[in-house]
Amino acid sequence: MGNVLTDKDRTLLMSAMNNTGIFVTLGQKTPNIMVTHWGMFGKMWGRDVFMLPIRSSKYSYQIITQTKSFALNVPAHDMRGEISRCDAISGYSCNKFQELGLHAKRAKSIEAYVLGECGLIVECNVIAQIPPDAITTYNDTKISSHTLFVGEIANCYKLN
Ligand SMILES: Cc1cc2nc3c(=O)[nH]c(=O)nc-3n(C[C@H](O)[C@H](O)[C@H](O)COP(=O)(O)O)c2cc1C
Repeated sequence: MGNVLTDKDRTLLMSAMNNTGIFVTLGQKTPNIMVTHWGMFGKMWGRDVFMLPIRSSKYSYQIITQTKSFALNVPAHDMRGEISRCDAISGYSCNKFQELGLHAKRAKSIEAYVLGECGLIVECNVIAQIPPDAITTYNDTKISSHTLFVGEIANCYKLN
């Protein structure tokens, strides 16, 4: 059992996500990095979770459906350049750790790497996934093809 996420940590992560976006790292044999601006903390089925939307067309989707885990990485300084570059390239065609010059450290509780340049790290194990065709929408809500991955928080810590 890892460290418990505090309300202060949740606020820090949500604020970074709303401002610049945060990094999500996935996989170990085929590691990848994506960016998210969307997601939410909450309690589901008695567990502390973060719900992460990923489009089925993304390389990250291929990885998460195999490893059933992901890590949230909150930048410890302004990383807008890396965020924008990370969005522009895909793990299908390159190793983003090398392309972005970011330092991969082994995650503590899941099968993934985390980013040495980041501050708060939150590691999650996927306990459920909700495909887009299982979601009924109202009021012209467009959900594109996002699958919602419900990740139970397995560990959290600060690197910087
Ligand atoms: C601010 C921001 C927020 C994003 N949020 C999401 C998201 O919630 N879900 C998603 O699938 N992609 C999102 N993306 C796009 C992915 O980060 C981007 O396509 C990334 O390159 C993933 O590609 P890959 O998995 O094919 O390597 C976002 C991009 C940016 C810049």
